[in-house]
Amino acid sequence: MEKVMIGEGIYWVGVIDWNLREFHGYRTGRGSTYNAYLILDEKKCVVDTVKAPFTSEFIAKIKELTALDGIDYIISNHLEPDHAGAVAELAKVCPKAKILATGQWIEGAKKYFGPDLPVQQVRTGDKIPLGKNTLTFIEAPMLHWPDSMFTYLPEQEILMPNDAFGQHYATSQRFDDQAPEPVLMEEALRYYATILQPLSPLILKMLAKITEMQLKLKVIAPSHGIIWRKAPGKIVDAYQRWANGEANQEAVIIYDTMWGSTEIIGRKIAEGIMKENVPVSILSLKENDPGDIITAIFKAKAVALGAPALNNLPFPEMVKLFVFLKGLKPKNKVWALFGSYGWNKGILPQFGEEIKATGFQMPLPVFETRFRPGPEEEKAAQEFGQELAKLIK
Ligand code: FEO
Repeated sequence: MEKVMIGEGIYWVGVIDWNLREFHGYRTGRGSTYNAYLILDEKKCVVDTVKAPFTSEFIAKIKELTALDGIDYIISNHLEPDHAGAVAELAKVCPKAKILATGQWIEGAKKYFGPDLPVQQVRTGDKIPLGKNTLTFIEAPMLHWPDSMFTYLPEQEILMPNDAFGQHYATSQRFDDQAPEPVLMEEALRYYATILQPLSPLILKMLAKITEMQLKLKVIAPSHGIIWRKAPGKIVDAYQRWANGEANQEAVIIYDTMWGSTEIIGRKIAEGIMKENVPVSILSLKENDPGDIITAIFKAKAVALGAPALNNLPFPEMVKLFVFLKGLKPKNKVWALFGSYGWNKGILPQFGEEIKATGFQMPLPVFETRFRPGPEEEKAAQEFGQELAKLIK
């Protein structure tokens, strides 16, 4: 096994999940990794584990570097099974190891692993000396579960923040100076948009806490994807922008269509947006994964949603998207709604009211046509697009 070091005496012992293609309802086209770390100091410590099916590979990696009966601590920064999936098995084969975790982790772990794990609760500010390194803990509730915490090694300025700053990106490269930057940043953004977006207020607090604690960040070693050692500040700055809801001056049109009428309206709206020199893209709900859609919405300032009516309700794919959006709570967007109906006018405006009640800003009236839009309606759709574009210029 090639030894990958992220610091002095600190090894990457994670695994690569090349073929992961779904996570929390989103497609993960580039797979993922479950990063775990081994600290070999006077006291020895494993930071995080991996998803259960990879337990043997993970434990074998640790065994190549040190004897399991010499491990003193297993830190579990997060209980979600992609990181804690191997914790019980690892504890079994490391007879003297204590599992260090938050109180919420310990409570939750009883439901996953039973009450007999050798746990020790840690809190923000607790320090455990290993020798040359000192384990320092920062509780980070809801990043991404209530139990989450970060582990920091002040002597080497290494932060292990688990889900934060990660990406679903399986690659043989481990560091940001090796991976292609556009792909890395795109995956980091996609991860933020689909997983962390609703937690933006907490992310801002966490970033403020890092500043307040004056944590120096030489390396940020998340639990998914690439480790930031060349430019850790780049991802911290990006998180600051993303958590503040900064988006591009562009529009996106997301639609589903039954017989093509809603699609025609969407394309006309796009023409109007282009007339105003605002970049726009069109994504069909049928052809695109929710992760692509959510990421496109995250990047844009204006979002036009289009759906036909079906049985007095909007088309189901749009309702499904709205379920994602309600949970993700995108910030600082201008929303618009359009579509066609067959016999009952008003279905979409009703849906529009529901969207607005969620707190989404929708300044333009809902654009709806009966059946296929005629020439006048196409012209009106184009003007609707122009109006929408002007709202974000
Ligand atoms: Fe990567 Fe919240 O687990």
